[in-house]
Amino acid sequence: MELHGIGALVTGASDGLGAALARRLVRAGAKVVLVARGAERLEAVAAGLRAEGLQAHALPGDVGDKQAVYRLAGAAAALVGPIDLLVHNASTLGPLPMPLLLDTACEDLQAVLETNLVGPFRLTKAFAGSMALRGRGLVVHVSSDAAVAGYPRWGAYGVSKAALDHLGRVWAAELADSGVRVLTVDPGEMRTRMHADALPDADPSTLADPADVAARLVAIVTHADRWPSGTRLEVAAAARELGA
Ligand SMILES: NC(=O)c1ccc[n+]([C@@H]2O[C@H](COP(=O)([O-])OP(=O)(O)OC[C@H]3O[C@@H](n4cnc5c(N)ncnc54)[C@H](OP(=O)(O)O)[C@@H]3O)[C@@H](O)[C@H]2O)c1
Repeated sequence: MELHGIGALVTGASDGLGAALARRLVRAGAKVVLVARGAERLEAVAAGLRAEGLQAHALPGDVGDKQAVYRLAGAAAALVGPIDLLVHNASTLGPLPMPLLLDTACEDLQAVLETNLVGPFRLTKAFAGSMALRGRGLVVHVSSDAAVAGYPRWGAYGVSKAALDHLGRVWAAELADSGVRVLTVDPGEMRTRMHADALPDADPSTLADPADVAARLVAIVTHADRWPSGTRLEVAAAARELGA
């Protein structure tokens, strides 16, 4: 996918991987809408890019809030035009420290699913029709190895990511031949607030810099046609395949 001039929306763009990815996409010439709940930190990321003479739009909102999602979709299109790249990166772990399933309230499981699964579902629903009409679009689901492995205490989050992976496969099947493609990516462990919240004792020197992961992810997006729609990729391995 050629990035120059496209409209893109990145959720969770005020911190960690999402902020690093938004910066990369803007510097590659994409018109990017940055979404996260906290307006101040989000605006700081966008303002930093504007200070470089680039275009970036901060659009505060909660992807887990049904009412907010349709407002976000309308506002994003009004700001940058049609969205060709939609990156579902925002995510929550749920209550901290992460509880065992036996100690997980049903309401907490539901809240994690709203943000990590239902929110991306609603946002894709809001954009996929217009992408299909234009015959182009890429939807990226940011997943985790917790979608595949059954780690104790990662239950709500892991279930949400496993479902997000499958949502990507079904979207891909249903949107086949529409020009709209879906990729799921596992970024690997990164030095971010989320990782510190989950595993405060981890040695940061063993974790990837989200800026490096974002660079690899941009290479993947640029060469997205290389993989069948619905493919699940590990970012580091896929980037190696590309020589990135
Ligand atoms: N870090 C890792 O080691 C790791 C490993 C595997 C997968 N991942 C995945 O990589 C992605 C990025 O993780 P990260 O570590 O970069 O996270 P992070 O540093 O904690 O950043 C999360 C971002 O999402 C936003 N966010 C959270 N809930 C939101 C909501 N309901 N609506 C809108 N925005 C929301 C946060 O801003 P606000 O709080 O202001 O909304 C923030 O901008 C996630 O999907 C995560 O599951 C991370």
